[in-house]
Amino acid sequence: MTILVTGGLGFIGSHTVVELINQGHECVIIDNLSKSTIDVVNRIEMVTHKKVSFIKVEMLDKTAIRKVFQQFSISAVIHFAGYKSVGESVKQPLLYYQNNLFSTLNLLDVMQEFAVKKLVFSSSATVYGDTSIPPLTENLPLSAPNPYGRSKLMLEEILRDLVEANTEWSVALMRYFNPIGAHTSGLLGEMPYDTPNNLMPHVLKVASGESAKLQIFGGDYETLDGSCIRDFIHIMDLAKGHVKALQYVEQHTGCEAFNIGTGVGYSVLSLLRTFEIVTGEKVPYEIINRREGDIVISIADVQKAENMLNWKAQYQLEDMCVDSWRWYQSIKGYV
Ligand code: WQD
Repeated sequence: MTILVTGGLGFIGSHTVVELINQGHECVIIDNLSKSTIDVVNRIEMVTHKKVSFIKVEMLDKTAIRKVFQQFSISAVIHFAGYKSVGESVKQPLLYYQNNLFSTLNLLDVMQEFAVKKLVFSSSATVYGDTSIPPLTENLPLSAPNPYGRSKLMLEEILRDLVEANTEWSVALMRYFNPIGAHTSGLLGEMPYDTPNNLMPHVLKVASGESAKLQIFGGDYETLDGSCIRDFIHIMDLAKGHVKALQYVEQHTGCEAFNIGTGVGYSVLSLLRTFEIVTGEKVPYEIINRREGDIVISIADVQKAENMLNWKAQYQLEDMCVDSWRWYQSIKGYV
């Protein structure tokens, strides 16, 4: 049977497809190429030495999704497709609600039509908001602080209602903490398309000399070194977690949320220091004002994923930095 991976040419999607193929799964990738390029198909094939089925699909067009289900015998879906920039979502909330909500509702409609009831959904730790004390457990009250996070929270609620009404469905809600790193081959990673929002892409730009200094948003937080703390997780650990979640939904019914992090927090400054040590590259920085909406500490409680998915992150912060740097050097001048 075949696994449909929506947004499968994106950062998380492409790494997950590689892991799925490595575990013997047949995959079909759909992607609208708005935040990725067709070259990622070649890169996935180079890494896996397998041909990959890719179809350009705009998920706002339900007919286009239906055609994929008519063409392939889909047994389960891993749904990554969606916009994910916090900053962009604040500026363009309607774009985010329309794209993230409508594309998912279209997908769910077609899944129902074809009686495909196994779904792994790309959610986010943003749904925890900034009110809870870490480490964050999956049963905490949820409140998203921006349209991106709220679109994820709404979709989690929609999926819970769907499963409530259709008990034979099985859904895993994957709440990512801070994915960084790249495939160890150096052939896959986070493509720096537009102005990056996240920390690591900015670190890479400074380390490569494209930017003069890293701007650190706030150095006066109540943490050891004054900078924020995050649960950075290697993209390959995150990808493996999705393969485990797929196995879980294939063997169970119901709707379960899982924290996908390491359970260990590092400050922004300690990531910077680690990056400089393992790569030998200097990353000049300046501490400027806090960024609106940032929370001080975000660390996952990962017990549930360990127990129910039999999954635990293996890579260290050093690996994340080395692999990110290798990737960035391999694509310098590419984009
Ligand atoms: C991390 C820390 C910044 C850039 C977001 C989304 C979340 C998820 C991951 C999708 C913060 C600091 C950053 C910079 C900095 N995405 N920073 N200078 O905000 O924790 O999470 O991305 O699911 O949903 O909310 O990640 O990498 O933007 O920031 O000092 O140039 O790095 O202030 O403390 P964040 P981030």
